[in-house]
Amino acid sequence: MPFQEVKHPLIQHKLGLLRKKKTSSASFRQLVNEISMLMAFEATRDLPLREVEIETPLEETTANEIAGKKLVLLPILRAGLGMVDGILDLIPNARVGHIGLYRNEETLEPEFYFFKVPKSTDKRSVFLLDPMLATGGSANYAIEKVKKEGFSNIYFLCLVASPEGVAKVENKHPDVKIFTASLDRELNKNGYILPGLGDAGDRIFGTK
Ligand code: PRP
Ligand code: URA
Repeated sequence: MPFQEVKHPLIQHKLGLLRKKKTSSASFRQLVNEISMLMAFEATRDLPLREVEIETPLEETTANEIAGKKLVLLPILRAGLGMVDGILDLIPNARVGHIGLYRNEETLEPEFYFFKVPKSTDKRSVFLLDPMLATGGSANYAIEKVKKEGFSNIYFLCLVASPEGVAKVENKHPDVKIFTASLDRELNKNGYILPGLGDAGDRIFGTK
């Protein structure tokens, strides 16, 4: 299960709205958050649980809680920021790191500018967040960085992926669990995903 396209009807309906060029920045942001929350629901399906003893108002009983340390959300700036709040609504205790990367428009290679994650990374799950997995250069850079930092249980959550990008990540990092709302057709000559949704960062922040 290293790669999964999440076909839930609510996700697919919202993704269609997200793709429309007439969708406003305000609606786009809202939809990115909603889809991200639904994706996180699916991606966390296999998180391990442990049993704990609790007291209800009536008696003692056994309940479940998520085992291990709090997981880390790691948005790839800028566009990944748009996914954070929706997932935090679902997992309010998650830690949040940041990795700053932008894609050089000519070479399409990622340029690195910022990195901050919580201390003690071993045994923590990390959810890398970026709406777009295009050539896969940014994803692979971010994955290498978190591996160097000591994370080993790594998820990559995106909304739209290209076949080229998925193949690139799978070849280099077969252990990383990739979740996308859509595996699109292809990349164009400028490295944009088709049919895609355009420039995610610009649409989230209204910078075009
Ligand atoms: C976009 C996107 C990814 C990257 C994907 O970011 O959010 O981070 O491009 O492309 P790749 O798979 O070919 O590396 P961009 O560089 O436009 O930066 P931004 O989020 O600041 O707009
Ligand atoms: N980055 C985006 O925001 N969109 C694409 O289609 C490719 C990279």
